[in-house]
Amino acid sequence: MPGPFPQTPDLSGFNAPVRIECDLEELIVEGEIPAEIDGSWYRLGPDPYFPPSREDDIFFSGDGFVSRFQIRDGKASYKRRYIQTDRLQNDKAAGRSLYGAYRNPFTDDPSVQGSIRGTANTTPVFHGGKLLALKEDYLGMEIDPDTLETRGWWDFDGKLKSETVCAHPRIDFDTGEMFIFGFEAGGLCSRDVSYAIIDKHGELVSEQWFEVPYVSWMHDFVVTQEHVIFPVFPHTTDLDWLKAGNHHWKWDPSLPTYVGIMPRYGSVKEMRWFKGPAWSGFHFLNGFSDGNKVHMDFSVMRTSPFPPVREASGVPFDMADIQIPYMRWTFDLSQPGEGWTETPLCPAVGDFPRIADKDHMKDYEIGYYINYDPANGEPLMCGPTYMGFNTLTRMNVKEGTHTSFTMGPGFTFNEPIHIASKQPGHEGYLAMVVDLHEEWLSDVVILEAAHIERGPIARIKMPKRLKNQIHGVWVDSARRRGEL
Ligand SMILES: [Fe+2]
Repeated sequence: MPGPFPQTPDLSGFNAPVRIECDLEELIVEGEIPAEIDGSWYRLGPDPYFPPSREDDIFFSGDGFVSRFQIRDGKASYKRRYIQTDRLQNDKAAGRSLYGAYRNPFTDDPSVQGSIRGTANTTPVFHGGKLLALKEDYLGMEIDPDTLETRGWWDFDGKLKSETVCAHPRIDFDTGEMFIFGFEAGGLCSRDVSYAIIDKHGELVSEQWFEVPYVSWMHDFVVTQEHVIFPVFPHTTDLDWLKAGNHHWKWDPSLPTYVGIMPRYGSVKEMRWFKGPAWSGFHFLNGFSDGNKVHMDFSVMRTSPFPPVREASGVPFDMADIQIPYMRWTFDLSQPGEGWTETPLCPAVGDFPRIADKDHMKDYEIGYYINYDPANGEPLMCGPTYMGFNTLTRMNVKEGTHTSFTMGPGFTFNEPIHIASKQPGHEGYLAMVVDLHEEWLSDVVILEAAHIERGPIARIKMPKRLKNQIHGVWVDSARRRGEL
């Protein structure tokens, strides 16, 4: 019988495993869900099935779960399943966790040496008629979009040579193409990075590889209508570090930041590299090209936001290192080498950005993300940074203005999704899961994207606490039918 889970920040409180699979129909709705909202909201995250083999296991290690809110005719239902990875199947057969430190096969039980360690616990993506559960440590796992049953690892009909697929593909919603990359593409701690283009039908049409200057946690990248941008920040690792039994990543501020930029339909041989001091970043809101200028907008930090990484790396925490405005970096392709231009976009310090699908890869006006604002309450233990977000921000990057939505102390927010409206001139809707720390429950709030400060127009009441997700995706029913 499995023992208790360790009472560590990564595995207790709102980070404690939920370990349920369920189907909930006719969820209670306060307010009114707009009748035009019709689709499925898939969410992914880690939820350890068994207590970990190590007391110091981290948030990102958990077995992947996939959940779906289906919204139609003003009603909502919810379904949740574990993703049946090789790893979970092996653990179930043994009745305990056989896997060791985060992304470190040297620490696994001998019985599972060489087995597939992928947890498929980070990002759902819908493309080419397939729902994939992605984590950057292996291929994507195909999931049945209706039943949420696990179908199997997807290697694009055997065409993809990379051992990994990133957690943040980029879809051009005008052409229907999906752009993917993979780091450590050639194996554990390799400097190989793959870059592949998938056509609108889901067929892999090209794959190229290149080497980065050092192994880097390249969690996300940027694609514009003309270019692709590969940021290399100094979350790094090496085989000696792993053989010593550590979790995968360490933060090494002695390393520079590199940013590689190439034409998105070009050759990796055309990559131009920019170099600067150590920075950290995980999610890019958007990027666009303007002649020789290439812009990328994101939440930038000067350190690792994750306490276990900082502690393992011996790096002291200074709040000022993460208190940096939302930023635009601009690269001049005619002057590769040292440096780029940095322009603050919004003073709200946050992450988990969202943008309307129609604005991807283009010059744009409106972006959304969540942030922690001390004016809205003391930090609450939640998520991998141990500091839950309590504010939703809508920024207008053209005007340099922003508005916000908060529920005050006692609430933390998960990543929002944007739902497009079919009404001309309507900015659409935002939806996000809210953690209710006093009630020990979770709700979903739906807001008018243009007027988040007015508060929710609808609130879906959940009868159970939901596990903190990582990422989600909205799949409109029309898109599912191939009409969008
Ligand atoms: Fe991410």
